[in-house]
Amino acid sequence: MPKITFLNPQGPGSLPLVTEVAPNTSILEAAEHAGARVGHACGGNLACSTCHCWVNEGFDSLSPVEDKENDILDKAFDVRPESRLGCQAAVGEEDITVEITEESLKAWLDENPDVRKREAS
Ligand code: FES
Repeated sequence: MPKITFLNPQGPGSLPLVTEVAPNTSILEAAEHAGARVGHACGGNLACSTCHCWVNEGFDSLSPVEDKENDILDKAFDVRPESRLGCQAAVGEEDITVEITEESLKAWLDENPDVRKREAS
């Protein structure tokens, strides 16, 4: 099974987190399963950009980018050639390395105010 390495699963400075998933699992599904902080304000329905990630390794092994994903990525911050939406990018047979964007980490904290409050105190 392919491995996903989340470089900053709990935010900047956190230790990488490695998880194994079945092929066709989305990055967002893998993050939720492993406890990595990928935001998902629209619930994975391709209507926000809060699941925006950078896929630093294994990008070409992911499911193809559809036009609608590109439309949504146009609204994201700091879009790079390795940008994908975590809810749309499904892993193939290869291992990948994912860096969660600042936008997505902030969105995750917005979705988990109890954690934000705990970490602020
Ligand atoms: S969670 Fe909204 S587009 Fe992915």
